[in-house]
Amino acid sequence: MNLSKVDNIIQDYKGNPSSLVMILQDIQEELNYLPEPVLNHVAGKLSLSVGHVCSVATFYSSFSLEERGKNVIRVCDGTACHLRGANLLKDEIVRALNISEGQTTEDKLFTLEVVACLGACALAPVMTVNKKYYGQVTREKLLATLEKYRQKDSCVLSEPNDSKKTD
Ligand code: FES
Repeated sequence: MNLSKVDNIIQDYKGNPSSLVMILQDIQEELNYLPEPVLNHVAGKLSLSVGHVCSVATFYSSFSLEERGKNVIRVCDGTACHLRGANLLKDEIVRALNISEGQTTEDKLFTLEVVACLGACALAPVMTVNKKYYGQVTREKLLATLEKYRQKDSCVLSEPNDSKKTD
C-alpha cells in the first residue's frame, strides 16, 4: 500500500496528535475505509499507541475498518423514513445488488449501510450515495440511481455531482 497520501494528510495537520479524528476522517475520505496497516502507520507518525488510534477508529460509527465499495449507499431507517417504507427500499437494494446490509458488492462498486436519521426527514424515505442525498425515493428512482452510478463507473469522463443537493 502506498502510504504517501496518508503522509500528506498527516502533514496537512502538521503531525499533530490532537488532530487524530480529522486525520482519520481525511484518510477515510481518500481510501473509503481505514485499513489496519494505515492505522499502525498513523500511530507511528503521531507517536500514539496503536491501541489508542484503533479505539478512536472503532468508537465513531462513521469510520469503517472494512473495505467498502466505491459508492456507499446509506438508507435511513429513522422513524419518518421507516413509516414511509424504508424497509421496502432497503429490500429493493438488497435484491438489486445481491448483498445484505453492511456488505459490499463483489465488483466493489457498492456498499449498503442502514443508518438512523439522515437529517432530511421531510423528504422521507431518504438515502444517500456517498455525499449526495436522494429524497422521496421510489423503486423506480432507486433503480435509476443505481444504474446512474453503474454507468458513471464504466465511463471515467462523467462524474456525478456529489453535492448535498437532493434529487
Ligand atoms: S428519519 Fe430518515 S431522514 Fe430523518
